[in-house]
Amino acid sequence: MGLSKKIETIAVLTSGGDAPGMNACIRAVVRTGLVNDLRVLGVEGGYEGLIRGTFKQLGARDVGGIMQRGGTILQTARSKNFREPNGQREAIRQINNASIDALIVLGGDGSLNGAQRLEEQGVPVVGIPASIDNDIYGTDMCIGVDTALNTIVDAIDKLRDTASSHSRAFLIETMGRESGFLAVQTGIIAGAEMVLIPEVETSIEEVAKTVEEAYRRGKTHAIIVIAEGAKPSATELAALIEESDLGFSTRLTILGYIQRGGKPSASDRMLASRMGYKAVEFLMAGTSGVMTGLNGNEIIAVPLSEVSSNHKELSLEYYQISKVLAR
Ligand code: F6P
Repeated sequence: MGLSKKIETIAVLTSGGDAPGMNACIRAVVRTGLVNDLRVLGVEGGYEGLIRGTFKQLGARDVGGIMQRGGTILQTARSKNFREPNGQREAIRQINNASIDALIVLGGDGSLNGAQRLEEQGVPVVGIPASIDNDIYGTDMCIGVDTALNTIVDAIDKLRDTASSHSRAFLIETMGRESGFLAVQTGIIAGAEMVLIPEVETSIEEVAKTVEEAYRRGKTHAIIVIAEGAKPSATELAALIEESDLGFSTRLTILGYIQRGGKPSASDRMLASRMGYKAVEFLMAGTSGVMTGLNGNEIIAVPLSEVSSNHKELSLEYYQISKVLAR
């Protein structure tokens, strides 16, 4: 929407799963806000904090030294209460009580849906996509994805050492909820023999064939990357292989929450800084109800209504590339 009222106070919150780079983005929001003479409040604990009214004013020094830290200094949460109309009403009451003119929400698809709900009820909001899953419509990349990929690649490089030494096949589960993005990208940059993703059905026979062929071609290991949303899951596949006695030995590693932590990479710090800056710029230019989206190398305003009503499709070209390069 176009803003009619002059903005004097903004609040920033982080919601859903934390993503490396959230802090760099909070820093950018606060400092860009201050340069524009805004009062900037941090909401502690995501939408739960909004409902409780846990706000604190942030100055330039409060966000010093946080750029290089993973997690979020504002804390985050997955709020059930905020999904209910009562929770949203209470949040809006707190927003009005604290004279907050606009909100900046960092988070994944659920959090951006929440942002859209507030916008529909008259609260000016700008969303910023932050989720390691990279499953948000309207942006090429989300904050946190690059760091998560670096963490995964680092782990797989280590796992390959032991896989090779024992000629084992390693099943490695990556996060990503219903999206195979992290897994296919990993397949390419970690040199996996095979990738299983929710978007493509794969049978145990195909897995067995791929691993056998890899060994026949002289490989000393097989790295199979499995997205957490894939069917069969990594755990199911490990049990199936065990039962079927396929003639090779496997080990299962679920990378888990390690993928969400750690120092944000240079790319994530850059993306987070640019998006935080742009979010405030959009508000200052009178625009809300949008998300900062990376389009090529440009940060554009994508309507939140489009973000919440569309599904981001995974480009299967990644899948194809990982298959070709696994020779
Ligand atoms: O959305 C980020 C993510 O890490 C997903 O990859 C994963 O499925 C989910 O969050 C885990 O959520 P929680 O932190 O609630 O356990």
